[in-house]
Amino acid sequence: MKPATLLSALTLLAGSSPAMGMSLGLRGNGHGGHSDFDLVGYGKDSPYGTTTGGKGGPAVVVTTPEELAAEASGDEPKTIILKGEFALQSRLSVGANKSLIGAGRGASITGSGINVYNTWNVIIRNLKISYILDNDGITVRNTTRVWIDHNEFESDMDGGPDKYDGQVDIIRAADYITLSWNYFHDHWKANLIGNGDDLRDVDFGHLHVTLHHNYYRNEGTRGPAGRFGHQHVYNNVYEDYLYQAIHSRSDNQVLVEGNVFRGNASEALSTYGLVIPMDSPNTSPDGDFEIDGYANLGAKNDWGPATINITQWGNFTHAPYRYKLTPLRQVEWTVKKGAGIGKI
Ligand SMILES: *[C@@H]1O[C@H](CO)[C@@H](O)[C@H](O)[C@H]1NC(C)=O
Ligand SMILES: *[C@@H]1O[C@H](CO)[C@@H](O)[C@H](O)[C@H]1NC(C)=O
Ligand SMILES: *[C@@H]1O[C@H](CO)[C@@H](O)[C@H](O)[C@H]1NC(C)=O
Ligand SMILES: *[C@@H]1O[C@H](CO)[C@@H](O)[C@H](O)[C@H]1NC(C)=O
Ligand SMILES: *[C@@H]1O[C@H](CO)[C@@H](O)[C@H](O)[C@H]1NC(C)=O
Repeated sequence: MKPATLLSALTLLAGSSPAMGMSLGLRGNGHGGHSDFDLVGYGKDSPYGTTTGGKGGPAVVVTTPEELAAEASGDEPKTIILKGEFALQSRLSVGANKSLIGAGRGASITGSGINVYNTWNVIIRNLKISYILDNDGITVRNTTRVWIDHNEFESDMDGGPDKYDGQVDIIRAADYITLSWNYFHDHWKANLIGNGDDLRDVDFGHLHVTLHHNYYRNEGTRGPAGRFGHQHVYNNVYEDYLYQAIHSRSDNQVLVEGNVFRGNASEALSTYGLVIPMDSPNTSPDGDFEIDGYANLGAKNDWGPATINITQWGNFTHAPYRYKLTPLRQVEWTVKKGAGIGKI
């Protein structure tokens, strides 16, 4: 690792990408779209305070998996700037009070994914995480306050639903998390929130997640699939989302608003308990039967060609924080332009 001052690290970030230009462009373009890329939602307004990641600590630049693993451990606040390509041989464990930020147009992670386990206050931005075979791209487990923003997740649909696991999964009472402006594509299972219907005692009352301005393209299921928690799902774009997109089950609650569905999308939102066989055929060849979840609709969605099936209306009708909806007719343009790496 190369020690760097915070100032030089930030200069490196700003100097090598159209970063500021992008957000200023959106702010100033008169389209009235989402005006900046600041943290919004449960990751910001939590009972534990806001997610700050490495703020207040030093910044370091890392260029190898070994340096990355060493810097990401421990609980001292630190901003870790990832430069280049990281072919991980084992999963990266991230400690508390860390920001992992890809430099410039984004750093890449392949091989193994990232564990954010039993910790708190973590930010992950501007990383391309692809073809992770050893578990999820990122697993957030028993952790509070996480912001996963402006990343790209890619693999392929060739090997069926069980070839890869999730892109970002949030499990075991993890709480107060925002997933924003990520580009999730070419993958079956995007975001599982709560990983078992037998985990009611662990998960119920946790799993508060905001998902906004994410771009999902050519995906199978779980965009997201939630159990026992609350998810606010707004202003996301779903293009070619082949099966269950937003699925709320096992007493989970979703508030769904201002989303856009395009292309070959079959089921935008459902709350029935059945987890279809296209979700995980190896573990449940006939599908899995759970109890139903709940949904509420806020601002109008554009379901495109997709259907919805709401079997139970819930009581999660308002998000308990301030946020700004992008007008529905601008969502597709704004999200496609702003999501993914090389934008912050
Ligand atoms: C990590 O951050 C929290 C605030 O979020 C702070 O209370 C704690 O002291 C930090 N840990 C260390 C080791 O600095
Ligand atoms: C959850 O994480 C906390 C640290 O934040 C730890 O003390 C606790 O043991 C963890 N619980 C489980 C079930 O792993
Ligand atoms: C839409 O996707 C489904 C599931 O993969 C597939 O069976 C169907 O042929 C696709 N339809 C179109 C028009 O591409
Ligand atoms: C909704 O799902 C339930 C449970 O699977 C099913 O019985 C019902 O027919 C579905 N409704 C529509 C309109 O598809
Ligand atoms: C919301 O609905 C759930 C499911 O019916 C229920 O368990 C919970 O107590 C309700 N919360 C409030 C504040 O009414």
